[in-house]
Amino acid sequence: MANAATARAFQYGLGIFALTALIGLANAIKIFGTIDQNTLLTHLHSGTLGWITMGVFGIAVALFARNGSAVGPNVRLSALATAAYVLAFWSGNFIARAVFGLVMLATIFGWWAWVVYRAQAIGFGRLTVAQLSILLGLTTLVIGSTVGVILQVLFATSNVTDQTGVLIGVHASAQVGGYLVLVAAGIAEWHLSGETRTTAGRVQAVLLFLAGLLLALGILLNVTPALLLSNVFQTVAIVMVALRVGRRAFGIGWGAPTGARHEAIAVGWLVVALVLFIALDHTMFIGVMTNVLFGTVLALGAPRTWPWADHVIFWGLNAGAASFVVVLLTVGSSAGAGPFGHPVAFTAPIMGLAVLLGIVTFSIRLAGAPAMATAPART
Ligand code: HEM
Ligand code: HEM
Repeated sequence: MANAATARAFQYGLGIFALTALIGLANAIKIFGTIDQNTLLTHLHSGTLGWITMGVFGIAVALFARNGSAVGPNVRLSALATAAYVLAFWSGNFIARAVFGLVMLATIFGWWAWVVYRAQAIGFGRLTVAQLSILLGLTTLVIGSTVGVILQVLFATSNVTDQTGVLIGVHASAQVGGYLVLVAAGIAEWHLSGETRTTAGRVQAVLLFLAGLLLALGILLNVTPALLLSNVFQTVAIVMVALRVGRRAFGIGWGAPTGARHEAIAVGWLVVALVLFIALDHTMFIGVMTNVLFGTVLALGAPRTWPWADHVIFWGLNAGAASFVVVLLTVGSSAGAGPFGHPVAFTAPIMGLAVLLGIVTFSIRLAGAPAMATAPART
């Protein structure tokens, strides 16, 4: 059943996210000393692939599977491929990184091809804004991940040149500025506005897609007009998201423990990310993405466990992320600081502990609801 597969994808995603949060906590308080580069890359990719992309696969199932039919690429195998790739980053072994990077890319390609196949069956002109956003977002993910695998092969074959740094920039900007922004806007729209098919929504999705491509191309070829155009497209599209979807934020109950408040605050974070030019990683990873995904878990409708926890998670996640980002903006990175030697040691744990509480609570909830009836159209 489609929704059970969505829940499974989130269960695996939450499991891998525990590693992200634990490394983040260690990096914040630094009682184990400075975190090495391999562990940082593990933190980064366990978060973006293990948590965020497993969640996006689950949402793709909810949006594209036919009721009662087979649900596309296998969720368990995808989780295995992701876990293997994250561990390869941790091992620091370039051959393992290249081999499992390729397996990860094949997995992503499988999901993208399935979504294209289903979109074709539905009719490209009949897709909802959320469906179109996921389709275009996965397309950017395929492109960004292909660049990632090229990088892994360059590292594995000792072919690192000046151009490698540029390719890392292309990879990171396609993934964060293209893929993440697009899927976040689509997921928030799905929950807050429902199954919309408006022209404005489609224009918004296409502008975000083009903005991601232009950003990556501008960095690759060092073409300033492409970067400027990308900025214009992204600004226009995010203003559209704020006006079209964000205005619904005023109508929701901020005290109610539903997914809606996570989705609404994610739109606010998206605007902050635009103002900061997506420069501050956790604005996107926690403020935008973790909110839209936690909102989706809540909307899956599993019975509540520990009702108090929902409030602690929501406020802890957002107050923690906000104070963390403010510290990074005003004081700078904690790299090189001693144990509890930087304000990040006191702000990041609020966010990290809220995330860990979310992982435990939501895992219990999802485990208790093996076959939920319908996919959420609204929270
Ligand atoms: C198959 C999928 C992926 C592959 C093969 C891949 C590969 C890589 C490689 C080789 C690096 C450079 C590592 C180094 O410096 O040693 C990297 C860095 C990075 N990746 Fe990925 N990656 C993938 C998915 C993602 C996703 C989904 C995201 C975000 C949504 C992401 C965001 C980043 C960022 C932000 C960096 C750091 C860039 C920097 O150092 O400034 N990656 N990735
Ligand atoms: C999707 C989830 C997450 C992703 C993708 C992510 C990604 C990143 C990235 C790219 C960096 C920069 C690494 C570098 O310096 O090269 C970083 C640093 C850091 N992360 Fe995360 N992170 C995530 C979640 C978390 C969580 C839940 C915590 C909780 C404590 C956390 C705490 C930290 C800390 C403390 C730093 C060092 C900041 C500094 O002082 O510069 N992260 N993370």
